[in-house]
Amino acid sequence: MFQAPRGTYDLLPLKAEGLRAFLNKAIAVLEKAGFVELETPILEEARLFNRSVGEGSDIVTKEMYTFRDKKGRLLALRPEGTAPIVRAYLEHHLFYSNPSARFYYYGPMFRYDRPQKGRYRQFLQLGVEVFASAYPHTDAEVIFLLYEILSQGGIEKFKVKLNNLGCRKCQKGYEKRLSGFLEGQKKKLCGDCQIRLKKNPLRTFDCKVEDCQEVLSGAPTISNFLCRDCQNHFQEVLDLLEILNVKYQREERLVRGLDYYTRTVWEATAGDRKDAIAAGGRYDNLVADLGGPEIPALGFAIGLERVLELLPLPQPQERRGVRFIYLGAAARKKMLALLCSLRRLVSVPVTISPEEKSLKSQLRLADKDRCLLAIIAGTNELERGVFTIRNLANGHQQEVKEAELIERITKCCGQ
Ligand code: HAM
Repeated sequence: MFQAPRGTYDLLPLKAEGLRAFLNKAIAVLEKAGFVELETPILEEARLFNRSVGEGSDIVTKEMYTFRDKKGRLLALRPEGTAPIVRAYLEHHLFYSNPSARFYYYGPMFRYDRPQKGRYRQFLQLGVEVFASAYPHTDAEVIFLLYEILSQGGIEKFKVKLNNLGCRKCQKGYEKRLSGFLEGQKKKLCGDCQIRLKKNPLRTFDCKVEDCQEVLSGAPTISNFLCRDCQNHFQEVLDLLEILNVKYQREERLVRGLDYYTRTVWEATAGDRKDAIAAGGRYDNLVADLGGPEIPALGFAIGLERVLELLPLPQPQERRGVRFIYLGAAARKKMLALLCSLRRLVSVPVTISPEEKSLKSQLRLADKDRCLLAIIAGTNELERGVFTIRNLANGHQQEVKEAELIERITKCCGQ
């Protein structure tokens, strides 16, 4: 028997229903804030992520699913959604026609990481990206939106950690100091971190090895390297969050695993889970880095599996809908036509037995499928021009004339 590939999973119907309910609530929040949907392909040129997420990041060096297509082009299954949205924003000149656009997207992302609870190789994100505002009020507004989505979606207790990563200039100064510090501790670092130290010392913060974590707990933080503008920007974000009554925690060691971030970054955690359920930040240089004009931007993405794990599963549905049950080919034929017209009239599921079995087994199947009404006919009923309607909740049944059937069903279904 086959199984889903390691790190992937099947979204079974009840979970899918829970996901849909969460997404509907989240999208309602976003649309009221002026967001529109923009979906990009699952495949992108691999270079897009090298240039944005970063050559030295774990995502690019270890986790990206890449392959050559038949023409030898190096493609990647997208590991995240921000770079593709910026690519589309530039490719379609949206920065010209719709410069201050706000987009949301949802769908699968792929990272070849070690699978565990809440960490998958194919996982779902709901992401948002906001362009063309450099003001701190947009950071506060976007962080507030994350609060709104999580709380309206039913996540009760969550924490948001914030940090200020500064602009590129601040980051340069800090990187120099950090690599000086790490050079002194090089022997205590794992092999990966020794490479990170050369390529991008900030990425050592992504390391999960305990010895490295211990070294990093004594490392200088970026807060002493921030220029006046970056300090003021962040202070204003914090002041605005106070006004919006948003609780947060300042976390000076929060650096995030993607290279494009500047200034404000944040992560939300909930329940006992240490891993973030959502994360994001500003990326004021990415649009220009990918060949566009200087346009600031920011956004976040919610890990949908992690959110769903915190929500109760929807309960199996109440009985609803209609099942046609037939005995004989003539009844089956007649019912197909009825079924197709009924579907236009009612908003509950209208189905027909998949195959002709005894009346008892067809009724048993309809019961398992949680149908409310069974419409039964065999040769005898057809000859008399009647159908039997059986209520599967209480077993009551009666015969109705064919001419009255549709009206009776629509009445019973509350239409
Ligand atoms: P990220 O922190 O890499 O950011 O991912 C965002 C969220 O996706 C995480 O907080 C987590 O909930 C979920 N996630 C990440 N990896 C996995 C995994 N292997 N399995 C399950 N869930 C996972 C980004 O992707 C940025 N593009 C977010 C962003 C948007 N920044 C600005 N705009």
